[in-house]
Amino acid sequence: MRIVEKQARILVVDDEDRNLRLMEALLAPLGYAVELARDGEEALLKVQETHPDLILLDVMMPKLDGFEVAKRLKEDEETRVIPVVMVTALHEVEDRVKALEAGADDFLTKPVEKTELRARVRTLLKVKAYNDHMRNYQKDLEAEVAKRTEELHRAFQKIKAASLETIYRLARAAEYKDEDTGAHILRMSHYAAGVALKLGLSDAEAESILYASPMHDVGKIGIPDRILLKQGRLDPEEWAVMKQHTVIGGRILSGSKAEFIKLAEVIALTHHEKWDGSGYPNGLKGEKIPIAGRITAIADVFDALTSKRPYKEPFSLEKSFKIIREGRETHFDPAVVDAFFSITDEIFAIKERFKGENESLFLRIAG
Ligand SMILES: [Fe+2]
Repeated sequence: MRIVEKQARILVVDDEDRNLRLMEALLAPLGYAVELARDGEEALLKVQETHPDLILLDVMMPKLDGFEVAKRLKEDEETRVIPVVMVTALHEVEDRVKALEAGADDFLTKPVEKTELRARVRTLLKVKAYNDHMRNYQKDLEAEVAKRTEELHRAFQKIKAASLETIYRLARAAEYKDEDTGAHILRMSHYAAGVALKLGLSDAEAESILYASPMHDVGKIGIPDRILLKQGRLDPEEWAVMKQHTVIGGRILSGSKAEFIKLAEVIALTHHEKWDGSGYPNGLKGEKIPIAGRITAIADVFDALTSKRPYKEPFSLEKSFKIIREGRETHFDPAVVDAFFSITDEIFAIKERFKGENESLFLRIAG
């Protein structure tokens, strides 16, 4: 560690001109910049103006005496690091104690002896230079840490955006055969996050649902085209195969260490469960169905109702709302239905925002 040497500035405070001149004559030839003040008030002003590295302070002065000046300097965060040497004719122990209590760092006795003065000054200036260095070092370090933290934050945001885009593109690949715009997963994931927040889930939980819910149907990859793309009604055997997309999705997503992939596994498995226990694949009932599955169910169904599908035209909002309302306490968790209906403005806004078919939807969501 190298401490940068600069010309040290010494403030001498004394109400007698003779003493000021003597001190100046002793210190200036050594290369110090010497400032002079004739009373306590002037001393405090000079400290503000000149930022001295050391103060030689007379005790007995009119207006503010040396004790008071030292006390004020040591109370102020900005000036407390400046070493203060009390220069006094007093020999009384009591006065020395008082000076120490006021915060003086050292003493010199009048008449000042030249060698002693120079030795004290040199030592205290070294201490001051070291303290300055440490203060600057600390400030530099804090600035560097803040800068690195910001860089890390930006890098994290980029990775997060890339990760979200990858999820959307993979989920879109899974849905590509029966829904080629990718807009369904954008809309339903945003509906789900909005409902999650309304239900009182934390921002982090809602964000996890936003990231995880697009993968709810990845298991469709494992469903044969003749069933997945069949125009008419599925027979019971085909329907049993179709239901397997939940289990296959869960299997595709299983074993992850990432929290939102674990959540995606839960959602894939449970988004077709129903509140009354009549859903699939496990016939879970009520709160046995994880909340993310209950939320995704309503978001998925509402978007399916209001969208065009190979086998149907989009239903009107009135009809779609009616179906959702009728599913309260049978298909859907009543609390989730209520949350959904209390954010219909937001639902409309999401529907409007993600109605297009273009690529920029992905970029917008990832950016
Ligand atoms: Fe599904």
